Amino acid sequence: MSLLVRGANQVATPTGNGARLGPELATLTVYSDAVIRCENGRIAFVGEESEDLRRFGEPDEILDTDGGCVLPGFVDPHTHPVWAGSREDEFDRRLRGETYMDIARSGGGINSTVHATRAASSEELLTATLARLDRFLTHGTTTIEAKSGYGLDLETELRMLEVIRDADNVHPIDLHPTCLAAHEVPPEYRDDPEAWVRRLVDEIHPEIARSGLAEAVDVFCEEGVFDLEQTRRLLADADSLGWRIHLHADELTPLGGAELAVELGALSADHLMCITPEGVAALARSETAAVLLPGTSFFLRSPWAPARALVDAGCAVALATDCNPGSSPTESMPMIIALATLGMGLGVAEAVTASTLNAAAAIGRDDEIGSIEEGKSADLIVLDGPAYQHLVYNFGVNPVRHVVKGGRVVVRDGVRFDSRSSRNPEGA
Ligand code: NIG
Ligand code: FE
Repeated sequence: MSLLVRGANQVATPTGNGARLGPELATLTVYSDAVIRCENGRIAFVGEESEDLRRFGEPDEILDTDGGCVLPGFVDPHTHPVWAGSREDEFDRRLRGETYMDIARSGGGINSTVHATRAASSEELLTATLARLDRFLTHGTTTIEAKSGYGLDLETELRMLEVIRDADNVHPIDLHPTCLAAHEVPPEYRDDPEAWVRRLVDEIHPEIARSGLAEAVDVFCEEGVFDLEQTRRLLADADSLGWRIHLHADELTPLGGAELAVELGALSADHLMCITPEGVAALARSETAAVLLPGTSFFLRSPWAPARALVDAGCAVALATDCNPGSSPTESMPMIIALATLGMGLGVAEAVTASTLNAAAAIGRDDEIGSIEEGKSADLIVLDGPAYQHLVYNFGVNPVRHVVKGGRVVVRDGVRFDSRSSRNPEGA
């Protein structure tokens, strides 16, 4: 199966394996008049159309981009996409002045979603998740990291991870599952959080690792949730369980989560709204990615992570939605890029690299995805505009016109399209 993507005014991509650091973050390779040849799901060629035809002949299918801009599909390296219910009541309470933590401590927050998620059937969770995945996809995201964490008991955590596996099997988006059983202290352990930490370490983490349903593990390291010492214990045997580490770090208070992530050799330290200068220096000396989630700052009306300082210090900065029902209910990477530029002060080229190649590095997949280069998976988006700045320029609307995943057109003219399934709107 071959696909030729042609007619682009611009093809823009970061290049090279590994996260781009410092000034390299702003360096995109920009082709004018290039075509992209996809063969059997991979990128086989990027360059002049005449050379493409000489080397490969007629393609099975052509996607004419009509003067648009082609970018790599977005990689979203931090999402919580499986949940039931919604928390619009908390949104109103926060607008009236209560904080995220006030609401969590009064019985709302993560535990209110835990209540709804435990009560939902796996079918209901899968249906809700697939609807979210369609929104991720139509906004240009072709790969996500996906966390559990609204079960907070063995059975529901496993069911969430099964939903992630099932969604991965039926949806074009690739999902990389993370166990976040240490997302909060469940109500039944409120009076004895230490017993919950012991249960996670002794039983829940090992059982989930045995199931093979998670690639990585995460902990919400935060004042009033899991402190540094508990987080250290929760992650001490990650290696022997076969898990890489992501960490919710320095989100609401400057606890030193970034330094701990570095100490543990984590793939990423995420949020970092309250990171200290010592934390920035530690990340800059390490391979641990700094995953920034400006949707959370926007939605909680809290400070931005110090994106410029992190980039300038040489940290591997990536961007993600944090898609979840409490602090960032969005699937839209273009919205995140708007916030990263207009809010946090990154340039558009920097934000593109942070949402593609660096985001792929933050989940350990930069050898497979995240840039438009020969040999990588053919995951591409076409913007409704001639240049990559149009990601943000026409703000508040979806700038993504077409999406290609693994060499197949899966969104056409903004609509979910799959030539191999009954969901094809044209019925072919
Ligand atoms: O990344 N901080 C912890 N977890 C989520 C919020 C989850 C929720 O409120 O439901 C976050 O912000
Ligand atoms: Fe999160």
